[in-house]
Amino acid sequence: TITAVIMAGGKGERFWPKSRTNLPKQFLNISGNKSMIQQTIGRLEKLIDITQIFIVTNELYAELIHAQLPNLPLENIIIEPVGRNTAPCVGIASIIIEEKFPDSTMVVLPSDHIIENEEGFIKILETAVEVSQNNSNLVTLGIKPTYPETGYGYIESTKEMEIINELEVHKVSNFVEKPNLETAESYLSSGNFFWNSGIFIWKTAVIRKYIKQLMPDMHDILETMKTAFSTSTNRNDIIRSEFYKMPDQSIDYGIMEKVNNIYVIPCIFGWDDVGSWTALDRINEHDENGNVIKGNILNLDTKRCIIESNGKLIATLGVEDLIIVDTEDVTLICSKDKAQEVKVLLKELRMQK
Ligand code: GDD
Ligand code: MG
Repeated sequence: TITAVIMAGGKGERFWPKSRTNLPKQFLNISGNKSMIQQTIGRLEKLIDITQIFIVTNELYAELIHAQLPNLPLENIIIEPVGRNTAPCVGIASIIIEEKFPDSTMVVLPSDHIIENEEGFIKILETAVEVSQNNSNLVTLGIKPTYPETGYGYIESTKEMEIINELEVHKVSNFVEKPNLETAESYLSSGNFFWNSGIFIWKTAVIRKYIKQLMPDMHDILETMKTAFSTSTNRNDIIRSEFYKMPDQSIDYGIMEKVNNIYVIPCIFGWDDVGSWTALDRINEHDENGNVIKGNILNLDTKRCIIESNGKLIATLGVEDLIIVDTEDVTLICSKDKAQEVKVLLKELRMQK
């Protein structure tokens, strides 16, 4: 059986003010006419039945998920009382899945990425599932890097390569999460590194084995919950009382950086993690002055801006390289080169409250 785990607990803060704590990015229509999580599920359903797709999220979003995805069985929404990053998210999903689908292979993926070429995406997943059946393999999908991004994981591939279903499958020698700029630059120029797409494929038993080995504290908490699940009918109560004990750790730092058996399949589909407002430059059409505009906008002598109106007319004159986003209660005006720091505004706002 193939199962999927969608990690949907992120806050999407760099997409503020459109993305809000009560309605983060994954539940918004950033591209196309469905929300990002609806698109994620839609594309997975070509390979995996909806009853085998699990979403791990914060309790704030459980109802929203049910409303946007009415066909998803309610018990497939796994609710975290607090966010502890992606390692506990994968951990909790693995014990729930292994109970229901013993011996399954998990596809773990974010809820808020843009993927073009769904056929290519499905083909690569099928191949990854094949590779994950051997030994103790962990499989990731790699993206060819185009600039020294420091917010991603980097995967060093080796010459050891096989072709499966016409796709290259490389053995990985090194996984480095979020290197500094200098290191990222050297990886880029060396030519044999990929970005980690954040999509992982492994057998449930294999990730459980690595968790036991490399994150023993988390393993113990998972075992406690697993035992409690078998004697109780209320899964949520058990998670609510145990989950806060989990370490705050990403799967990348907790597991991927420390294991040897990683394989990477270079992606054959267009990928974007839509990390911040400037992503719209990569995924949208531009007007003749390089602007990306949405809604009621009058722009004269305006260059390379991203402007989104919420109904009210936004008029610009003689400005360049700005992000202007109007929502019901907030207007953001931000220099494009500060797009990564929109979070800082939020932090400041919270402190003032
Ligand atoms: N359920 C749940 N709980 N989901 C979470 C949590 C949590 O506590 N924290 C994050 N997520 C979800 C996010 O919503 C996102 O979909 C996914 O997990 C990845 O988390 P990010 O916080 O966006 O990770 P990142 O961008 O710093 O890095 C990861 O993704 C990069 C590619 O986009 C890493 O895997 C990098 O190696 C990778 O390059
Ligand atoms: Mg991310």
